[in-house]
Amino acid sequence: MRPIQAAYPAARFRRNRRTDALRRLTQENTLSTGDLIWPIFVRDGHDIEEPIVSMPGVVRRSVDRIVLAAEEAAELGIPAVCLFPYTDPQLKSEGCEEAWNPDNLANRAIRAIKAVVPEIAVMTDVALDPYNINGHDGLVRNGIILNDETVEALVKMALAQAEAGADILGPSDMMDGRIGAMRAALEASGHKDVAILSYSAKYASAFYGPFRDAVGASGALKGDKKTYQMSPANSDEAVRLIERDLREGADMVMVKPGMPYLDICRRVKDSFGVPTYAYQVSGEYAMIRGAADRGWINGEAAMMESLMCFKRAGCDGILTYFAPEAARLLRAQA
Ligand code: PBG
Repeated sequence: MRPIQAAYPAARFRRNRRTDALRRLTQENTLSTGDLIWPIFVRDGHDIEEPIVSMPGVVRRSVDRIVLAAEEAAELGIPAVCLFPYTDPQLKSEGCEEAWNPDNLANRAIRAIKAVVPEIAVMTDVALDPYNINGHDGLVRNGIILNDETVEALVKMALAQAEAGADILGPSDMMDGRIGAMRAALEASGHKDVAILSYSAKYASAFYGPFRDAVGASGALKGDKKTYQMSPANSDEAVRLIERDLREGADMVMVKPGMPYLDICRRVKDSFGVPTYAYQVSGEYAMIRGAADRGWINGEAAMMESLMCFKRAGCDGILTYFAPEAARLLRAQA
């Protein structure tokens, strides 16, 4: 119900904004470190941190350095990291077999983190693009993305990640039926407590550009992903996808990208009231960081504002490359 508000001059909205104390008292939403999931890129080798040109400040880390990053996250109070592998082009194939190799880079990183920092939640990406010779999230035959064959491959991939110790699986492939297939396979194989955070409403977006560089998929990608990722013009479809994924056994759902899609976040939260996440993707990070590095915007302020706005839009948490920086600022402000 809308409270009755007196008219001017009895009501002066500026009274509640007059001091920092009053602004804090009347603040409607809060951002905390517990809301953050930190996506990190893993590569092979030892003792390596390699810059990613299109994402200044973000690096690819060898597995030993990934463990250090997970320790840093835990120390900062960040509850989860999300792993993305940069796969040696030699290991990519049409059949994407490397995706369910128990000893692939992602699975080695999961085990290494869990051995040293068991308290941090490890989230994974379930999609074939890092392993696919043509850069797509699904298996391709004669230029067509094969839905059901891809789902079978994704189930094998998901089970290998669960076996390695992943806490949260993040299917980002947008094939139909994958959540139900994964949930059934997890139940049947003794992994009933592994959570699924479905990339349910994932749009075919230009904002993924820097990420595809980061995982080495840009050069490989033939065509676009519009036959499986959503059209930016659609909103009702997002609600139907979320409903479908929840029914198939998703524990949490995601909207991706973030900032241009806050209306979708709000609709999803209002419609279902389930744990709802947004992914502030690589292009969003690059825009803020790129402008800040040139002195065109205040980078810290823009970062914190963007993250708070996800909370206001109804998100329970945000996947963001800013996670450690934001956590440090939140700690300094506490
Ligand atoms: C692929 C995947 C993508 C991202 C996360 N998982 C890219 C894509 O769909 O092409 C993008 C993340 C980002 O841009 O930060 N399965």
